[in-house]
Amino acid sequence: MQIESRVFGDAYETANRYVDILASRGVDWGLIGPREVERLWPRHVLNSVAISQLIDPGSSVLDVGSGAGLPGIPLAIARPDLKVTLLEPLLRRANFLTEVVKELGLGDHVTVVRGRAEEQHDRYHVVTCRAVAALPKLLTWCLPLVAPRGQLLAMKGESAEQELLDVQGTLRSRRLTGEVLAVSADPELEPTWVVRIR
Ligand SMILES: C[S@@+](CC[C@H](N)C(=O)[O-])C[C@H]1O[C@@H](n2cnc3c(N)ncnc32)[C@H](O)[C@@H]1O
Repeated sequence: MQIESRVFGDAYETANRYVDILASRGVDWGLIGPREVERLWPRHVLNSVAISQLIDPGSSVLDVGSGAGLPGIPLAIARPDLKVTLLEPLLRRANFLTEVVKELGLGDHVTVVRGRAEEQHDRYHVVTCRAVAALPKLLTWCLPLVAPRGQLLAMKGESAEQELLDVQGTLRSRRLTGEVLAVSADPELEPTWVVRIR
């Protein structure tokens, strides 16, 4: 069985439709670079789902700076038990997200909000972000949005360890702990680096 089917199970067809939308409208609207098309599955969709294992059943999730829906839409497809909010300040991207959520039939558990993280007031069990900003800025924007006993999951590249070192003082003063985790959606995939703060 293909990795994609193994990871998404019954939701594979929906995930495949999302990949098709990214490869067509996502590129036309300038949200996905043309060179990304051939690696949409491993680099974007499967990579996004890797953090699913860190999220408790039934959690509320805020995806800050969702862009074309990463990681929020793959997570919502794989995990209908989650209540996912996609936060995106740019009108064009928020419109894209609204269309995609409707087309994929995710509206019962996914909401799109147009806005900036620093303007939000609601709190969520989990706040996710991928390729949005460096950790010091993310902490300022996102920590006020994490519910008590919740967590921030910042998807990072190889800079994860260094970025975490850079915010140790802030974490200590707020009595928070941070760790770098290597996670993957399937044992055959390369791990992705996540900074978890709670
Ligand atoms: C490089 S894109 C990454 C998009 C997506 N997360 C991904 O991994 O492909 C960064 C996104 O963060 C959004 N963004 C920038 N500043 C933001 C803020 N203050 N609050 C929320 N989103 C923000 C941008 O509009 C953009 O869509």
